[in-house]
Formats: sequence, structure tokens, C-alpha cells
Amino acid sequence: MLEGLRRLEYRGYDSAGVALTCGDGTLTSAKKAGKLANLVEVLDAEPLCPSTAAIGHTRWATHGAPNDVNAHPHVVGKLALIHNGIVENFVALKAELLAAGVEFDSETDTEVVAHLLARQYEQTPDLTQALTTVVRRLHGTFTLLAVHADLPDVVVGARHDSPLVVGLGDGENFLGSDVAAFIAHTKQALELGQDQVVTITSTSVTVTDFDGRPAEGRRYTVDWDAAAAEKSGFRSFMDKEIHDQPQAVADTLLGRTDLQGRLVLDDLRIDESVLRSVDKIVVIACGTAAYAGHVAKYAIEHWCRIPVEVELAHEFRYRDPVVNEKTLVVAISQSGETMDTLMAVRHAREQGAKVLAIVNTHGSTIPRESDAVLYTHAGPEIAVASTKAFLSQITAAYLLGLYLAQLRGNKFPDEIAEIFEDLRQMPDKIQQVLDRAGRVREIARWMSDTSSVLFLGRHVGYPVALEGALKLKELAYIHAEGFAAGELKHGPIALIEPGQPVFVIVPSPRGRDSLHSKVVSNIQEIRARGARTLVVAEDGDEDVRPFADEVFYVPQAPVLLAPLLAVVPLQIFACELATARGLDVDQPRNLAKSVTVE
Ligand code: G6P
Repeated sequence: MLEGLRRLEYRGYDSAGVALTCGDGTLTSAKKAGKLANLVEVLDAEPLCPSTAAIGHTRWATHGAPNDVNAHPHVVGKLALIHNGIVENFVALKAELLAAGVEFDSETDTEVVAHLLARQYEQTPDLTQALTTVVRRLHGTFTLLAVHADLPDVVVGARHDSPLVVGLGDGENFLGSDVAAFIAHTKQALELGQDQVVTITSTSVTVTDFDGRPAEGRRYTVDWDAAAAEKSGFRSFMDKEIHDQPQAVADTLLGRTDLQGRLVLDDLRIDESVLRSVDKIVVIACGTAAYAGHVAKYAIEHWCRIPVEVELAHEFRYRDPVVNEKTLVVAISQSGETMDTLMAVRHAREQGAKVLAIVNTHGSTIPRESDAVLYTHAGPEIAVASTKAFLSQITAAYLLGLYLAQLRGNKFPDEIAEIFEDLRQMPDKIQQVLDRAGRVREIARWMSDTSSVLFLGRHVGYPVALEGALKLKELAYIHAEGFAAGELKHGPIALIEPGQPVFVIVPSPRGRDSLHSKVVSNIQEIRARGARTLVVAEDGDEDVRPFADEVFYVPQAPVLLAPLLAVVPLQIFACELATARGLDVDQPRNLAKSVTVE
């Protein structure tokens, strides 16, 4: 149980707890605020009973502070329950229970459900049926799991808009928010659908819908193993995942062309005629994934001449967007579970748009609810702040752009083959950036007490600047902002004072127009005002040297593909600086990897 929780801790780490059936009609539990290690300490000092059915939870607080009492499981008599999500009508339900004389220990919405289930079980002494009755009363989002002292071999679960997968073992079965929880025990998984209730024992798995009618999940085999979710000698998952990036990009490109060099996106499962008739693309995503969407816009518009909008998923849904059958909505998400993105997907489909998901996690909800899916093959990403998933999302977006261009005849086959060949060289080039990272690390350590860093970029360098700033905020808790370099003179330049560190992402001098010289001028403008300029430029670019305090050179690449290289020194900078400040780069404060609440 603890091993499974350790693998899921990236999802939330405010507190952790377990509850176990003891086989003698009793139940025992332990919970502790803070990271899982605190709970492990408690359990080491005072081990619980031997058990054959148990539930465990790591929390990312929504209702109630992250303290011991609000931690899950919530125990009511002989019943213990854990919950992910938010029960939106909990105030009304709580009032009803208070009126009936129920007393509450915590401030959580979860405890309300625990009481409802305990009371329902008294009336309907069948735990699955009792859960089925209770979930029908809940509004909001939830994954619920419960055990009861009288049923020492049973765990019941339910899901509504929040993830839950079953692991099918031999003489043992598992439930987890994602397969990482049980990957050390089995690779056979069963993806549950929305609004399903599941009951597992060591030898059986039974699935029904919320009306109690038999239902079925989708079986699949996980294509990575426990080793992929380990640190492999790196000091943090983030460090490892940054170093996994050449492989993540290579794997995302793997098997996407036929013998003639034409792109084949087998997993797309969407009618080609739909993609041919699309007249607008809207990319929706959150956080780092949204910046991958920004890069996608530049590439897809250039290659396919289709207008592309990029929007944060939580804004898209509430602004009455103009989308219809001719709109292709591209949802980008590492986890495939981000609630904001999922809700935007649903909204888009309601308006008649087709949704194509670019997702890393098999068996997750967003691909299941989309019309088409393009999987990135980054492997499990454990560090909360995204790195290798970002590069593989950008890569998948390039593939989509090239595929659309091929389908719609925007480019000749040999042009597409040429770009694909450039893409195939990117993993080696990313490796070169990693091999040269010594200097970035050194500078990051020197700068560990910096209080503010700015990032400037233009064209595809702009989303790279935004991502560089986001990484620094997430990992090092330093004020950081990314700007479009051209916008500098319209405001942000007022921030420049002597000594202010500014990263500048310089486009290739071999690119079109005068983009390169414009950015070199921007460097001069801030240097003249005392900024400390840290420049990311292409090999051979000597123009930047006179104005740079430091240049981090990356290999030459076509302009549109350059973000795959330019962002890597920024990731390393943030990771190293945060480490130098003594921070936990894998689990930054207040964040969660997969935000399954709106
Ligand atoms: C959270 C994470 C970010 C991530 C974002 C989107 O905020 O902390 O690192 O970029 O969610 O996640 P997704 O799984 O949809 O890519």
C-alpha cells in the first residue's frame, strides 16, 4: 500500500493515510499531515494489523487545511472511506446529517460521504449497493474507495469525472488513480468508464453503472514497467526526466511513417475527411501543456495555413467560444485528467467541434472522451513540473501539423519528408544540449539567491520564454516572467535595473526576415540599462556575443523546431537553482501534478 502511495505521491502530498480491515471484524487506520514519509514514520513506530483489504490516500487539500484530522481515510464506525475530487453539494448533505445528530471531526466534504455511506450500509447491508445509492446523491467530481470491517476481503470504489483504474493481478487486485500505483505487481489494467461502481476481492472484479446494471471497463496492458518510474541513479525525478528527453522525443516519433516515408498516425481514429474540412483549430490546455500549444500554433499555421487559436482550457469554456463542426479542438494534456481541460473538451464537443487529444497517459479520461487521440510516448512523468512531456507534446503537435499538411496537400511529400528528417535529428541534438549543461548548472548555483528573473523570446522563442519563467516559479519559488521580446518596449523594459538577470532566447540567424537582428537589438536595449543578459543562441551565432554576459549555445535546427532545444537549458537552470536553494524539485509546494478539480 505504501509503495503504491509513494508512486502516486506526485498527485498530491499535503497528507497521507491508510485504513485496513483486520479480519476479526475490526478496522484500523493511520493518517498524518505532510508528505508520505511522515505517515511511514508513524507506521514504523506502531505497525497496524495484518490485512487483506486496505485503502490508502495522498491528499491535495481542497476543503479544509492539510492537517491530520482532514487527512483521509475518514473512518465512521466500521467503515473507512477516501475521496478524490470535490463534492459540490456537501453543505446541503452535511446540514441534513447534522440535523440527524451526526457529529463531524473534520472540515472535509469527504467525511460527509463517509457518514452517508455508513448510514446507508446500515439500511442496505451490501456495501456495493449502499455505495451505488450514495453516489447518486452526490454532485461534483469524485473517486471514492471504501472498506468495511465486516468485509475483510472487499474494496468498493466509484468514479465520476475523476480517475480510477483497476489492476488485475493473480490472486490479488488493485485500484489506483493511475497504473503507477500497482505497476510493480501487474501490467494488466482495466479502465473504468464514467459513473461506474467497482467491487474487488482478491479473486474478482465486478463493475456496474450507477443504477446497479452490469457494466464493463476496457482492458489494456501497460507498456512501461516499474523501472521507468524509478530515479535510475539521478538525484531527482526531474533531473532524470530532463535526461529522458531525447528518448521521449524519439519514442514519440517512432512508427509514425510508412515505408514510403508518408506520415501514418494510426492511433488517431478519426475520419480523414473531417480533418480535410477543418477550417479552424483551437488548442486548449493548461500550464506547460498550453505552452506546447503555443508552439503548435506557429508550426501548424505555417505548414497548413489553417488559423490556430490557443487558449487556456478554463478560459475557453466560460467565454462562449465560436466553434462548430468545422473546428478541430486540440486538447493537450500529459495526465489526460486535468479537470479544466476535460470540461473544455466536453464543452467543445457539445458545440459540435471534433476534439483531438494529445495525451501521455493511456487509460485516462480525456482521450476516452475525445474523437481522436495522438499519444505522446514520454513514459511516466513523476516530477510535478513537466519537462519531457512538454517536449513530447511539441513533437506530437509537429506530427499533427505535418499530417494535416500531407492530408490537405499544403506541402509536397518531399517537403514533409525533409521536415520529418529534421525532426528525427532532434533527439541527438537534445542530447548535445544535455551534454553541454555544465555551465548552465554553474550559473544557476551562483544565482541561487536571485529574487527575480525575466525571460524574453520572439516567435516560437516566446512560448519558450514563458515556459522558462514557469519552471522557475514552480521549482524555485522565484518571481519570474516571460515576455514577447517585441513587447519589451511597451512596458516591461521599466523593470530593468542594473543587475536584473534576463534570459533571451535568440532565433536562428538563418531564419526568415529580420527576426534575429530584432532580438539582438532587444538584448542591446536591456544591456544598455544594466541588465545581466543570459542568452540562448544557436551554434555559430557570433552576433550575440558582444552583448551577452553569458551565452548558452544549442545546436543548429530549423526555426520551428528550435523550441525542443532552447527550452532545455531553461529547465536545467530552474532545476539546478531550486536544488541549490535546498528545495524539493519533484514536489514543489502547493502544486499537484494532475489537477482533477476545477
Ligand atoms: C498542473 C501541473 C503542470 C501541468 C498542468 C497541466 O498544473 O502542475 O505541470 O503543466 O497541470 O497538466 P496536464 O496533465 O493537463 O498536462
